[in-house]
Amino acid sequence: MEDARRHYLDQIRRDGVTLTPALAAAFAAVPREVFVPDGFHRGDGRRVLPADPEFLPTVYSNDVLVTKLNEGRPCSSSSQPSLMAIMLDALDVRPGARVLEIGAGTGYNAALLATLGATVTTVDVQADVADRARSALARAGIDGVRVSTADGYTTGSDDRYDRIIVTVGVAGVSPHWLDRLEPDGLIVAPVEHAGTHPVLAVRTGADGPAAAVVCPAGFMSAAGPLTARHRGSHPPPATLGDMTETAPARWDPALDALAYRDLWFAAGAWHRRVTHAAVPSRDQSYLALLDDSGSAGAAMLPDGSVLSSGPDAERYTAVAVALAGRWWSLGRPPMRAWRAVMTLDGDPAAPIWVPRAWHLTRRP
Ligand SMILES: C[S@@+](CC[C@H](N)C(=O)[O-])C[C@H]1O[C@@H](n2cnc3c(N)ncnc32)[C@H](O)[C@@H]1O
Repeated sequence: MEDARRHYLDQIRRDGVTLTPALAAAFAAVPREVFVPDGFHRGDGRRVLPADPEFLPTVYSNDVLVTKLNEGRPCSSSSQPSLMAIMLDALDVRPGARVLEIGAGTGYNAALLATLGATVTTVDVQADVADRARSALARAGIDGVRVSTADGYTTGSDDRYDRIIVTVGVAGVSPHWLDRLEPDGLIVAPVEHAGTHPVLAVRTGADGPAAAVVCPAGFMSAAGPLTARHRGSHPPPATLGDMTETAPARWDPALDALAYRDLWFAAGAWHRRVTHAAVPSRDQSYLALLDDSGSAGAAMLPDGSVLSSGPDAERYTAVAVALAGRWWSLGRPPMRAWRAVMTLDGDPAAPIWVPRAWHLTRRP
């Protein structure tokens, strides 16, 4: 088991994540297998049970462990460990901190927070998920975590917190979180942007909350008002029909995965029609501008070539090329260089603070 845990830390670091000594100690100490007692689902849909030989090696790898499906789609999981590490590092948790987590899931992230010395309240909208997290935390002998069943929009508690971490994709930040956050507090949350959920660090200031980008991420979406559509929403991810190449490749070699995400973020900050779309006979999704039909438009590939379809193919091709040119001419700004002020929007009966007016800073 010691070898498995050592290998686990190496796997987490392999993506370029630097683990502080406290984080490395927490990942080494908390037994992740205790939080998935009924096994998990692999990406190919296969169920892995604790008795299977691949159970422990997968638990101690850098993989997401999907623990619950709803109509075949994941609705609860233990997130990717390297992403948890980046988010916990950004949260800057000190011993004694009071932390609210939205999305208890398996309870594993709450256990890591408690091991870092925090007192944790974790909330899940699914009662059976919250019950299982509570049992797992007890079995693992973790103290200092309270698990509640509630929609995280309201939090279901009147306590005050130093830190709030959101482990499910949201469209914005609940005003109830800000009401319960200490003045120098911090929220770390994956907030929808151009079809993905980059993780944002949100702080309150004299002019209201403001956001800075922490890292790229993809999360399952939250239930309820936390994912309400708003004036700045991008089109939902789509599958595009037959497409033809309407602009040639511009980069050789093609952008690597990180630079492509940087371009994606910038394109989304500049244009509200940017999202992601699956393209026929290709096995990943791409940065795309969708027209009003939601199923046609232009997709930009990592080499800068553009495939397009539909009546506005030419116009969207020109927009995609212009966005790529703008990003390139600014020196390929990384995601972390972006900041936004936030505005109250969403469902008028349950509003959320959403990013507005993204701008670049010189100090990522
Ligand atoms: C990716 S999992 C969380 C992972 C978890 N932190 C862990 O360590 O295992 C996302 C969880 O968010 C929960 N969720 C979805 N919408 C929610 C909402 N509005 N309020 C609270 N929890 C929500 C889901 O039920 C799911 O269990």
